[in-house]
Amino acid sequence: MHMTGNTILITGGGSGIGAALAHRFHDLGNTVIVAGRRLESLQAVVGDRSNMHALPLDIEDPAAIAAFAETLVSRFPDVNVLINNAGIMRFEALDRARDLTDAEATITTNLLGPIRLIDALVEHLAARPNAAIVNVSSGLAFVPLVATPTYSATKAAIHSYTQSLRDALSGKVEVIELAPPAVQTELTPGQSTREGYMPLEAFIDEVMGLFAKQPTPAEILVERVGFLRSAEAENRFDQTFAALNEFARKAREGSASKA
Ligand SMILES: NC(=O)c1ccc[n+]([C@@H]2O[C@H](COP(=O)([O-])OP(=O)(O)OC[C@H]3O[C@@H](n4cnc5c(N)ncnc54)[C@H](OP(=O)(O)O)[C@@H]3O)[C@@H](O)[C@H]2O)c1
Repeated sequence: MHMTGNTILITGGGSGIGAALAHRFHDLGNTVIVAGRRLESLQAVVGDRSNMHALPLDIEDPAAIAAFAETLVSRFPDVNVLINNAGIMRFEALDRARDLTDAEATITTNLLGPIRLIDALVEHLAARPNAAIVNVSSGLAFVPLVATPTYSATKAAIHSYTQSLRDALSGKVEVIELAPPAVQTELTPGQSTREGYMPLEAFIDEVMGLFAKQPTPAEILVERVGFLRSAEAENRFDQTFAALNEFARKAREGSASKA
């Protein structure tokens, strides 16, 4: 992936990983458009930076995605990089019948959202020079967290979808997966100060170093996520599954007792 001279759309660019990526790519000389539901957050990320723009988007809504893609391409015809970063993570208990609203919203946002947005932009991107699609999955794509089962399943699905997309777009659009470990953002309440989670700036430093490698790796994997990404290949899935879920339970209990 080229590191400069792009026009980059980042969904979920109003906070966390998306906002940090937006600033780093903008610092490198790219035009950056951040998209999400909360316009104030997007505008705060843009601040007084030129060549940086905020566009509202609700990725849960198919009609909004179609309208957004039209606006995007007409206002920013040079857009050549799509970073599918918007996502939600909800805790769910599987041991009783429940309201499935959270599960459904998670699938709509984390899986159907990127599928729909890629579909709306794929022909435009394929016609642009140095085009790339970056899909943000998770270490939980490879070893699931029991407390967030639908979230983990959507990330496993995004991993799979990205593999197909990479082959289908070969020679036209570079397709990259970014699979973060647990990072200090407000993806879940209290997570931005949760002990044992990777500080956001350290994560983004490592990520930008990996993006800059030529060729960019097909999977952007900071060192810390290897524990999850390689668990199955290294024949330690069961131990990793147990350790991950124990760690996450203790981390949440720690946050709750401090709150
Ligand atoms: N932090 C971690 O530990 C971690 C680990 C692995 C993977 N990830 C992934 O990294 C990505 C970014 O998460 P983050 O940690 O930076 O959390 P975050 O700060 O909560 O960012 C998520 C972003 O997604 C946007 N979003 C949510 N629903 C949306 C919708 N319906 N339409 C448009 N935008 C929507 C949110 O903006 P609005 O609310 O304004 O719409 C928000 O800016 C997610 O895909 C997440 O699954 C994070």
